This record gives sequence, structure tokens and C-alpha cells, in this order.
Amino acid sequence: MQAQLLFNTPTIKAYQALTFKQFQAKLDLPISPKDNLIPIGINLLGRPIAFLLANLEDQKIHIYSLFVEKTFRRQGLASLLLSTLNQYAKNNHIKKLSLSYVINRPESHLIESFLQAHQWSKPIPEMFLCHVEGIKVVEMLKSDWMNRYQLPDKFKLFPWSEITPKEFSALIENPFYIPEYTPEFENFETLNSLGLRYQGEIIGWMLTKAYKPNVILYHNLFIKKEYQKLGRAIPLLAASIKKQCQYNPHLQGGIWQTKAHNKPMIRFIKRCLAPFSEEIKETCLVYKDVI
Ligand SMILES: CC(C)(COP(=O)(O)OP(=O)(O)OC[C@H]1O[C@@H](n2cnc3c(N)ncnc32)[C@H](O)[C@@H]1OP(=O)(O)O)[C@@H](O)C(=O)NCCC(=O)NCCS
Repeated sequence: MQAQLLFNTPTIKAYQALTFKQFQAKLDLPISPKDNLIPIGINLLGRPIAFLLANLEDQKIHIYSLFVEKTFRRQGLASLLLSTLNQYAKNNHIKKLSLSYVINRPESHLIESFLQAHQWSKPIPEMFLCHVEGIKVVEMLKSDWMNRYQLPDKFKLFPWSEITPKEFSALIENPFYIPEYTPEFENFETLNSLGLRYQGEIIGWMLTKAYKPNVILYHNLFIKKEYQKLGRAIPLLAASIKKQCQYNPHLQGGIWQTKAHNKPMIRFIKRCLAPFSEEIKETCLVYKDVI
């Protein structure tokens, strides 16, 4: 059997069932090498049975998903996908591969055994994610934490889409945030990404992204150091959730994501969001040198 790079392949849509929901739309149309995506597939008489999807950005390759149909496992197919990716990386002078996976799941041992067999690095805790959807969002909207905290008058929320290019460059040129909370000027969800000003100065933001149909990812919540621990983040987050729900409360859902080392945020998620959550996920990140 052969693994093939599926660039400009009209039938790529047939591989959608072999990747996570949030990436399926990326396979609606053929992928060109300019799209920063690397699709590699294996088919049996035209039927897709194994698929790897990776992202190529800044000379780094990150594997988004790796999946082999159940009946074809332990036959070396994932190894074949990986060696094809390794060759592609080598041809493009890329030195490292990375992959994130969900831990503590009934199926996690599959990928863990596979990674061990291929000498990937030790897993590093990466993300903590909490998923709330449907009627649970409506219940959460009525919760104490969503309604108790108010911002004092001198603090003003504003739609992030209103930030001007001049204001944005000033923010980026004089950064007071940690790089992992770098604000974005593009590619954010305009529906409910919000900024927070204190007497006109931008001191915080809640930036969100479309994750999959009807689900928004809350991924970048930041408050400037001197305004932290004063209860400013919760009303900012609550306002952003309310904005999303004004749009259509019953169909919406959210994923709240934070880095595994951000203990205060994880405590907040566990206390306030987890009671409404369908799903809590923890991910680990692993690396491998291109050989
Ligand atoms: C993880 C997965 C991709 C592995 O695919 P695969 O085609 O079965 O892997 P390979 O046959 O290439 O396995 C290579 C080696 O990895 C190890 N390995 C793979 N699966 C294993 C398992 N279930 N138990 C123990 N070792 C395993 C073995 O050492 C194996 O070599 P061997 O069969 O000669 O002993 C597959 O199990 C899968 O699709 N799982 C569900 C999706 C998933 O978890 N994806 C990861 C998230 S991105």
C-alpha cells in the first residue's frame, strides 16, 4: 500500500471522516501547497482508510490529526503516513515535527504506544479545554458568576473589530502582554471578540475564533498586570459569552481553552465552567526530529 500527498486532489473530501470535526471544512475543496496544509492519505481500491493532516507554518510542521480505520490498524499504515510526512519535511528543509493529542481518554493509549514506538519526545502538558453546548449554555447564562460581577464605570467594553490599525500597532509595538496572549488584528470572531479600556487605554481582551459550525473557541483572555486580580476578567468573559448567545442561544456552544501551566485559569474553568460542561479535555504536545 502507498501513502500519497493529496495536494490538488479533487476527491479529498472523501477523507473528511478520517479527521476531527474542526478540520473537516478544510477538506471541502482541493488543498493547494500554498494553503499551509499537508494532507497525506492511503486508500484501498479508492476507499480512504488512513489519513494524516498537518499544518506547515514558519518552517514548522504540526500534525493536526492522524487516523487509521479500526480494521486496518497494526499494519504499519500510520507509520507509512508518518514516514511520508518525514520525507516531505526533509525535502522542505524542516527540522522538527510536532503533534498534540488528548490524554486520559479510553483511546489515548493507541497514540501513546505509537509515539513511543517511533521515539517521539516525552509528552509535555499543553492545553486544558472545556466544552459547553446547547441547553447547558442557557443554564450557564443564568449562573451566579455570569451575572454577579460588574465593571466599574471607568472600564468600557468595546467590539474588538472597532480597534483601528493605529491603535493596534501601538499595542503591538509596546507590548505589555505575555507573547502567548498576543492580540490579533485579523482572523478573530467578530461576533463576540471584545476589548476592555480603562480611561481610554486598552488594558485587556477576550478574543475568540470560529471553531466548528455553531461553536466558538474562547482562546485569548488577557488583562494587563496592574488590573489583574480585581475581578475584571470575569465580566469581560461573561459579556463575550452573552454576545454569542444573543445571536442564537440554543444552537451555540463554546470551548474555553487555556495553557496547561495557567493554574489560576484552570481553577476558574473547573469552578465556573466545568459544572456545565459536556467534556473536559487535556492535551499533551510531543516532538520528533526529522531524520
Ligand atoms: C494511533 C494510530 C494512528 C496508529 O495507527 P496504526 O496504523 O495502527 O499504527 P502502526 O501499525 O503504524 O503502528 C506502529 C507501531 O506503533 C505501536 N502501536 C500502534 N498501535 C498500538 C497499540 N494499539 N498497542 C500497542 N502498540 C501500538 C506498535 O509498536 C506498532 O508496531 P507493531 O505493530 O509492529 O508492534 C491508530 O491506532 C488510530 O487511528 N487511533 C485512533 C486515532 C488517534 O488516536 N489518533 C491520534 C490523534 S491525532
